[in-house]
Amino acid sequence: MHMAFRHIDAIALMRPALPKADQIRPYIDRIDENRWYTNHGPLLKDLETKVGERFGLPRDNIVTVCNGTLALAIALRCKAAQPGYCLLPSWTFVGCAHAVNLSGLKPFLCDVSPETGTLTIKEAIAALKECPGPVRAVMPVNLFGQPISIEEWEYFEHETGVKVVFDCAAGFDTFHPSSPPGMISLHATKLFSAGEGALLITTDIDLADQMRRATNFGFSSNRVSEHWGINAKMSEYSAAVALADLEFLQHKRQQFNERAERYRLGLSNFEGAYLQKGFGEDWIGTFLNVWLKKPNACQLIDKFQAESIETRMWWGQGLHRHPEFKKLERTDLSVTNDLAKSFLGLPFWVDLPLTDIDRVVSTLINITIEA
Ligand SMILES: Cc1ncc(COP(=O)(O)O)c(C=O)c1O
Repeated sequence: MHMAFRHIDAIALMRPALPKADQIRPYIDRIDENRWYTNHGPLLKDLETKVGERFGLPRDNIVTVCNGTLALAIALRCKAAQPGYCLLPSWTFVGCAHAVNLSGLKPFLCDVSPETGTLTIKEAIAALKECPGPVRAVMPVNLFGQPISIEEWEYFEHETGVKVVFDCAAGFDTFHPSSPPGMISLHATKLFSAGEGALLITTDIDLADQMRRATNFGFSSNRVSEHWGINAKMSEYSAAVALADLEFLQHKRQQFNERAERYRLGLSNFEGAYLQKGFGEDWIGTFLNVWLKKPNACQLIDKFQAESIETRMWWGQGLHRHPEFKKLERTDLSVTNDLAKSFLGLPFWVDLPLTDIDRVVSTLINITIEA
C-alpha cells in the first residue's frame, strides 16, 4: 500500500510527448503511396523546406541527418579535414566528444566561463596556447538551449582560421543560421523531434552540399563516391514524425512556457537557486535546470529522490569524469568542476501538472535550507 502510494506520487524528470499514431498517419500514408522510404525522399524534402522557411533559408541550406552525434562528426570532418585538435568544453554531453573522435580530430577539453557556463572565445584563445598540437576546429555548445553569441565566434574563425561548428542540440528555438554550421538535435527529448534525428544548418551553400553528400557515402549525383562520407541519412519515417511534430510545436511551446513561468514564480523569492538567463521569458526549451548557489547537486539529487522526485545532472560532472574521456588532454577545469555540481535538471514536461511543480519547488527550497 505504502509503495503504491509512493509510486503514484512520484514525479518523473521528463516525459517526452511526440505525435500520436493518428497524427503521424497521414504522413505514413504518403510514404505508402510514394513507395519511397529513404534516400532524400519527398517527405524529407518537405521537412527541409519547412525548416528552411523558419530560418529564412532555402531548402538546400538545411541538411537532415539521422542523429546529432553523427551530424557533429560530419560537420567537423567537412570543415576541418586535416589532422589536429578540436577544442570543446568539458561541460557538455558525451556525444560531443564521441563526435570529435569520429571526425578524426582529437578532443582538447576546455573550461567554461563562470558567467555564461559556456565556452567563450576567451577560454578558446587561452586553450589555443595550451593545446599540444595544431587546433583545427572548435565546438561551442549552447547550454540547454541558451542563445550563443554567433558574431564572436565568426570573428574568432576569421582571426584564427580555426573552424567553428556550433552544437545547438537543444536550441531549435534560439538558433540563428551563420556560415559556421550549427547542429540541432531532433532527439525525443528535444522541443522539436523526429524521435532520433538532427539538422545541420549553414548559410554556406557549398558546405551544406558537402555535408549532405557526406551523409550519403560521399556520393555525387551519379552514385560515385567522390568525397568522404558515411550513411547518416534520415529516413522518410523519421521525417514523417518530424512533420507531424511541427504541427504541434506552437502548442508545446505554450505548455512549456506556462510550466517555466510556474517555476519562475515559485523561485522568485528564493536565493538558493535560479533558472537559466531568459528561460521561459526570452526563450524556451525542454530542459529546465536550476543554477544552485552552492555546488551541492549530488546531495540534492538524493534528497529529491527520498521525496520521489526525479532530478538529474544532465551532463554528469563533465566529460573528463567519464572513464572513456578521462585521459583526454585538457586545460585547467576548475570552473567546470564547480559548475557541474551547481547545475541540476528538475522535472519538466509538456503536461507536467502545475501542482507537481509547486511540490518540486517547495522541496527544493526545504532541502536547500537543510543542506
Ligand atoms: C549538447 C549535446 N550535444 C550533442 C547531443 C547529441 O545529439 P543526439 O542525441 O541527437 O545524437 C546531445 C543530445 O542530447 C546534446 O545534448
